[in-house]
Formats: sequence, C-alpha cells, structure tokens
Amino acid sequence: MFATRRIGAVIVGAARQKHTLPELPYEYSALEPVVSREIMSLHHSKHHATYINNLNAAEEKLAQAQSKGDISTIISLAPGLRFNGGGHINHTIFWQNLSPNGGKPSAKLTQAVEKDFGSWENMKNQLAASSVAVQGSGWGWLGYNKQTKKLQIATCQNQDPLQATTGM
Ligand SMILES: [Fe+2]
Repeated sequence: MFATRRIGAVIVGAARQKHTLPELPYEYSALEPVVSREIMSLHHSKHHATYINNLNAAEEKLAQAQSKGDISTIISLAPGLRFNGGGHINHTIFWQNLSPNGGKPSAKLTQAVEKDFGSWENMKNQLAASSVAVQGSGWGWLGYNKQTKKLQIATCQNQDPLQATTGM
C-alpha cells in the first residue's frame, strides 16, 4: 500500500497584488469636533499605512518561504499576518462606519437590531459594555452569525479580525 504526501512548494503563476491604503470617503477634518483632524490623520496615514506596509512585507516573505517549501518560516509568519492583516481589515471597515453627516442605518439593519436586541438603545448599550471590558487593545463588533442567523456582539483582542476569528 502506498501513501503519498506532497510537502513541496506550489508555484502560482499569477503576480501577487500589493495592498494599498484606501482613501477616506471624507476629509481628515470632516468629523470635527467629535474626532480631531490630528487623530484621523494619525490613524489613517500612520497606523493604517504601517499595517499595510508590514502586511505586504510579510506576504513577500510568505511567497518566498512557499517557493522554497520552508514550512518553519511559513508558520513563523502567521502572527504577523494576523496582526497586520487584521489591522488593515479592521481599519478599512472602521473608516466606512464613520460619517460627517450622521446618517441613518438601513431599514433592514434596524429591523434586525430590533428583532435581536429589542432596540437600538439596548444594542448600543451592550456593544459599549462589551467593548470597554476588553483588556489591553481590541475591537468591539456588531456581527452577523450565519449559523443562528442573528446579529451578535463580539469582541476581539489586538487586531484580530472578526470574520477570521469568529466566523461572523
Ligand atoms: Fe488605529
């Protein structure tokens, strides 16, 4: 009886695309006086840009390690991919959730929040309570649980992204 196992590298022909810093859909100063221009600029042009640069560098190393079949290096890159990839995903979602004009949530989201939390007020209170309880750094989320088909509040440590961490 034969058992074959392939540990060699697979070389993929397609060129790898680099991640780039998404433009904000508003000016850095657009959220003043609630969020200052300096804070927006710092988190976008410095923090978010750094996650992207580090993610690109990690992916470059990953591609090299994969081409050599270097499993130890591939494994050692996982925490950096998680942290920097998560930082990129989380900030990209975050910018889209802010608006200088306020704005109303869609009727579909409002219906779902009322069904699963009773009211916006309840959901916001639960989200705030869960988020402030995160020790160190992390994110509080309103996610959609595909199994239960319900909205659900979750928290993630550091830059762990919601979907990759919880499936929501
Ligand atoms: Fe940030």
